Amino acid sequence: MGLLDLRCAALFVGCALARGAGARPPLSPLPPSRPRPSRTAPSGPSRCGMPRPLPVAPWRPRRRPAAGSAPALLLLLAGGGGGAAAGSQEPVAPLERIPCSRDAPDLGFAAMCAWLEDTCKAKGTSRVHVASFPHGGAPVRGLGVSSDVAKGDHVFCIPKACWLNEDVLPDPFDDGPGTHCTSNERMALWLANEVKKGPESFYSPYFPVLPTEEAYRRFHPAYLEGFQLDESVDLWKMWLGRLHLCHGGRESPTWAEVKLTYVWLLTRQFGGVGMTPLADMPNTAPEPELNVQQILNHGGDFCLKALRDLPAGTELLVDYGAPHHSPTLMFLIYGFALEREHHNVTVPSAEEYASAEYMLSPRDGCAGLRPPEFQLPPDAGPPLQNLARFAARHCRAPLDEL
Ligand SMILES: *[C@@H]1O[C@H](CO)[C@@H](O)[C@H](O)[C@H]1NC(C)=O
Repeated sequence: MGLLDLRCAALFVGCALARGAGARPPLSPLPPSRPRPSRTAPSGPSRCGMPRPLPVAPWRPRRRPAAGSAPALLLLLAGGGGGAAAGSQEPVAPLERIPCSRDAPDLGFAAMCAWLEDTCKAKGTSRVHVASFPHGGAPVRGLGVSSDVAKGDHVFCIPKACWLNEDVLPDPFDDGPGTHCTSNERMALWLANEVKKGPESFYSPYFPVLPTEEAYRRFHPAYLEGFQLDESVDLWKMWLGRLHLCHGGRESPTWAEVKLTYVWLLTRQFGGVGMTPLADMPNTAPEPELNVQQILNHGGDFCLKALRDLPAGTELLVDYGAPHHSPTLMFLIYGFALEREHHNVTVPSAEEYASAEYMLSPRDGCAGLRPPEFQLPPDAGPPLQNLARFAARHCRAPLDEL
């Protein structure tokens, strides 16, 4: 086990926020997730934490106008996108396949796919499409393969040129006067500025396919308002509190803009790689159903590799780190959780707690969310309703049953 692995293990167990001004530099508040390391490519991006992309409406669809008609902005989907399972957002309307090509009927997706091919020199992107796939009996938007892919093949690969991580920040990056930002916070500031640049930004074709604040407000715990979570599980309060210090009330980018890019980062970046277009679109599922693995190929490109034969039409399912997360941690990060048996429900030892910067154990993960103390207020907004659905599934057992 190398140094990096140790650090990752500590991060995971520690699940990280500075306990105090110790000798340790403040850890970046990256949510812990550590999918099984790749067997074929131990140096792949799964070496460290691999926060998985969020399985939610990843872009604002713009339907290609029919010839002769005025360009129109139409919402292709009614709902807020779908999650893979329990506590997820509303299901989407069934969706026709949208191929990843410059001719895709969705203008934003078409532009991104063209950019991936022309500018990023990505390979294999035309082998995938967006469509709705059944999860828990409801259609959920995800990424599928359009032609057969053999076990061991790379479905697609995205070169470093189009990854978004700290390496692309100007050096030195000016946090602003008097601020001390962590790496994710600095990234969030920079990213918010990139988004504001519009077409001037190199990454502009990526941004329109990412979730909007409006989409997150339909389900995500980062946008839970009007409800006080128990301190012990209020990770977003902690994360956003720190981000707030980094932001320092500056006029531009605004707080709302930085919060959005920060939520992107915490829910979509890959350990050691960063945010990666297209690779951040597949959904997840219980571990035995995962059918692609994130690896770096010999050229250092970030690829999804087929773990088994994938017949045309198969949905790509990637690891979001569920087996290492308690249900509550999974829910807080992504806005959904799988069934309990697919998460880590081992109560940490006293030692693990002691060495942890912060921790969510399955024991305290339901603090304040069990009946009868948890009551849904009548005017609950969508993120709170989503939380209530999660609590109804995961937080019914009395404490001593956990
Ligand atoms: C599950 O959690 C326990 C307690 O924190 C930890 O010791 C163990 O390594 C975790 N297992 C996995 C697979 O992450």
